[in-house]
Amino acid sequence: MFTKNHTIGDVLDHPLGHDLIRRILIFTGGQHRWLANPLARRIPLSWIPRLSLGKADGEFIEALLQLLNSHPEIPPEPKGPLRPAWWKEAVFYQIYPRSFKDSDGDGVGDLRGVLEQLDYLQDLGVDAIWLSPVYDSPMEDNGYDIRNYRQIHEDFGTMSDFEALLDEVHLRGMRLIMDLVVNHTSDEHPWFQAALKDPASPYRDYYFFRSEPNNWTSYFGDRAWSQLSEQGEWVLHLFSPKQMDLNWENPAMRRDIAAMVRSWLDRGIDGFRLDVINYISKVPGLPPGNRTIGDLTGYTGVEHYFYGPRLHEYLHELHEAAFAPACAFSVGETPGIGRQAAKLLTAPARRELDMIFSFDHLENPGKSRFEEYRYDLNELKGHFIEWLEDYDGSWMSLFYENHDNRRMISKVDPDPSVRVVLAKLLGLIQMTLKGTPFLYQGQELGLVDSSFGHWADLRDVESLNLFEQWRGEMGDDAAFQKVLAGSRDHARIPMPWTGGPNGGFSSQEPWIALDERNQSYHAEGQLKDPDSVLSFYRDLIRLRREHAVLRYGDITFTDRTAKNVFCYVRQNGRETLHIQCNLSNQEIPRPQPGEGWVRLAGNYPDLPQTRLRPYEAGIWLES
Ligand code: GLC
Repeated sequence: MFTKNHTIGDVLDHPLGHDLIRRILIFTGGQHRWLANPLARRIPLSWIPRLSLGKADGEFIEALLQLLNSHPEIPPEPKGPLRPAWWKEAVFYQIYPRSFKDSDGDGVGDLRGVLEQLDYLQDLGVDAIWLSPVYDSPMEDNGYDIRNYRQIHEDFGTMSDFEALLDEVHLRGMRLIMDLVVNHTSDEHPWFQAALKDPASPYRDYYFFRSEPNNWTSYFGDRAWSQLSEQGEWVLHLFSPKQMDLNWENPAMRRDIAAMVRSWLDRGIDGFRLDVINYISKVPGLPPGNRTIGDLTGYTGVEHYFYGPRLHEYLHELHEAAFAPACAFSVGETPGIGRQAAKLLTAPARRELDMIFSFDHLENPGKSRFEEYRYDLNELKGHFIEWLEDYDGSWMSLFYENHDNRRMISKVDPDPSVRVVLAKLLGLIQMTLKGTPFLYQGQELGLVDSSFGHWADLRDVESLNLFEQWRGEMGDDAAFQKVLAGSRDHARIPMPWTGGPNGGFSSQEPWIALDERNQSYHAEGQLKDPDSVLSFYRDLIRLRREHAVLRYGDITFTDRTAKNVFCYVRQNGRETLHIQCNLSNQEIPRPQPGEGWVRLAGNYPDLPQTRLRPYEAGIWLES
């Protein structure tokens, strides 16, 4: 049992404690060198309120202790034997169906549109597709608010369109995983409707109805509770008021979810990406959130559900009831989960998840999504080194972009003159590290953030809610700029397929506007250009397929602390590859290639010189 008399060092030696302190440093921008300081390690927790000048109060310490004491598990020792699996060898490609390809001219992408572009994906070398939600939904959150888990939304097509797509994917030797959104349902889901209609309904306990709300806040602005009528009960929603949190304490609800998962696996899909899956276990009684943690993270209450007491149990149960019998693959979306907890969630012997998406690297320490700043790639390097040197036994997902985040090129360096080399540098790193790459649609074209001119051009529920909230505090212009710094709509503009009307995405005006910065980066043009970003991604994926060392080979980092240079070696006893990258927009000295090395790929066309040029990256084969 942890108490206030334990020291910071004791907390750091506990896996979850280690993750929590790392997280606090990420939020505050604190240096992690500090963790190695022996004096800091000896400070008892009871001193923290005084040392932090009251910023972290006694209640904060209590919240920390509660979390540590509710998770006694120690991550398994790394270095189990490496077990091959198809998903460790695959390159995944995420499709956001609304914005991928419209086949029927209503301005919204659909399943037939995806089917039309399967040759494009196969040609690129994609092995598996992750399809964002296509289920029936009122579309409050573009489908992450599901009304009927067993039906396809009419905007996307029909169940037979889905089956045709799945068949065609499999015929091409590719795989398909779907999105599983089971932290919440739409308020229009029949379970919630039944619960509303009849307080005695068994479905009442599928959700969190309470006579008093607590102080938890929602991810889309404002409080996490809505009152059903003026005197009525309150109901919990961590996201929008139309996305009601499911009560996983209820065993019948869990059985219904497992049956639904099995029904999709029976249809032949290959697995799922599990939406905000680490939020499903909430501390019983839903205690109030700590103020300091709320201020630090922006989300009051998060300590009571981001790594809840029964999370591991629920995941193991779902794994055994649905995933294991179908040999299905799972990747959990787990915001706020650090490396040690990640090992517990993905250690093969524990039978919970195959992989997770951690988000620790998507913003630089001390920065948040709605802040405008230049992302420093040296932090990305540090993140990958830290994880990959300590994650053996588990398998890492490698990604920079998805439908919830800005385009990486824009975060790092919006200068158009470096766009292509930077796009290629990012791709080269992603395809040569050890783990499974997940590309987000358009990343392979080098797409950048959109230049939205007016708040009315935005569509995302999060952006619009935050705009409403902030315009009162700071006025329209400042609020719009702040929203733009982190809007999810940047990643949701239509794919530019051609230079024609609507970028070849649709014959009609799309549901969200295309952008001039991206229109000339269309797929048709890049397919014809051997030096395009798209051709480079295709070459990289082919190299990954041809050189087993890029998949299962060991990885060793050299120049670990040197700024702006990222070098590593992949080896498997048969082949040795050296990767050299310049993470800055300045020339830097080139680490000298060895005698007889052959360059397999690089983002500058001409032969290398004595210096690494801005964002230069190359793969060298030692011979
Ligand atoms: C996940 C999804 C995001 C969605 C949220 C609520 O973070 O990726 O798009 O809004 O969960 O379902």
